[in-house]
Amino acid sequence: MKPGIEWRQPRASADSEQFAADLHAALSRSPKAISPKYFYDEAGSQLFERICELPEYYPTRTELALLQTHAADMAAQMGAQVQLVEYGAGALRKVRLLLDAIPRDSVQFVPVDISGPHLLAACDGLAGDYPGLAIQPLVADFTRPHTLPPCPDGSRRVGFFPGSSIGNFTPAEADAFLRLAAGELAGGGLLIGIDLEKDHDTLHAAYNDAAGVTAAFNLNVLDRARKELDAQFPQDGFEHLAFYNPAYRRIEMHLRARQALELALGGEVYTFHEGETLHTEHSHKYTVSGFQAMAARAGFKPGKVWTDANGWFAVLWLEAGQHE
Ligand code: AVI
Repeated sequence: MKPGIEWRQPRASADSEQFAADLHAALSRSPKAISPKYFYDEAGSQLFERICELPEYYPTRTELALLQTHAADMAAQMGAQVQLVEYGAGALRKVRLLLDAIPRDSVQFVPVDISGPHLLAACDGLAGDYPGLAIQPLVADFTRPHTLPPCPDGSRRVGFFPGSSIGNFTPAEADAFLRLAAGELAGGGLLIGIDLEKDHDTLHAAYNDAAGVTAAFNLNVLDRARKELDAQFPQDGFEHLAFYNPAYRRIEMHLRARQALELALGGEVYTFHEGETLHTEHSHKYTVSGFQAMAARAGFKPGKVWTDANGWFAVLWLEAGQHE
């Protein structure tokens, strides 16, 4: 580990036992549905990196351009001295654009992620490129209660949650996360990226790319079940399905059985009828005002908004009220 990085609270990430239990539960409920967190093993994370580069997948490049163009303005909302907490830190690519706009000695960076090895590797890279930056990684599930390092005297605590990752939460989960964040960011604020509602063809293409990378990403859940849990089901028994569901304002991803089939897992056999699906992800799309209203219910006051010329993606500044 590089100097400048202080390691806090190592915790194991979701293991195979948890995956097996969650997959059994997923296959037992009706309709069948599993958490999207199971996309992200090593192979799935690499596929997601490839998705971010796809011509059809506009969110990543659009948000990066917003951060590139407006980083100084965004940093100005945060204040002179900040403890910057990135939720679900991942590769730490986007935060660099913000860090470039903040004097190094006026920020303490706290990336929070459930995957310890990945977080540490990303922090080592960041420390190499930003010598002198105070980094305090925290290995934790940021959607659950966790303890952040104390905010340095004279600093405001500011959250950063890019990528419209909040869109993968259910509305109840999004509300719970925003309430938790409003509590721990009290007196500071949250900078958050959200994907906006748009024409359905653009949305459809983003989740049905011509190269089939999103399909491979989706099917990776079953590849994992086969490799890690010895699940048995017909080769090519499932196909990728992604569509916009206007009633819920979300893209839904499913794995659809091409024919009636059986999936055997740890002594249980689950049946799928032809066309039946395992729901793997939803990706909510928002309006700026709708999202601000949801954030306001959780305790945030709407602030500045940055959006691209197409109005496809937005980065929002939300002020977190003081503790009562
Ligand atoms: C991580 N998350 C915001 C992505 C999304 O767009 O909902 C995950 C993804 N699923 C398919 N493509 C990308």
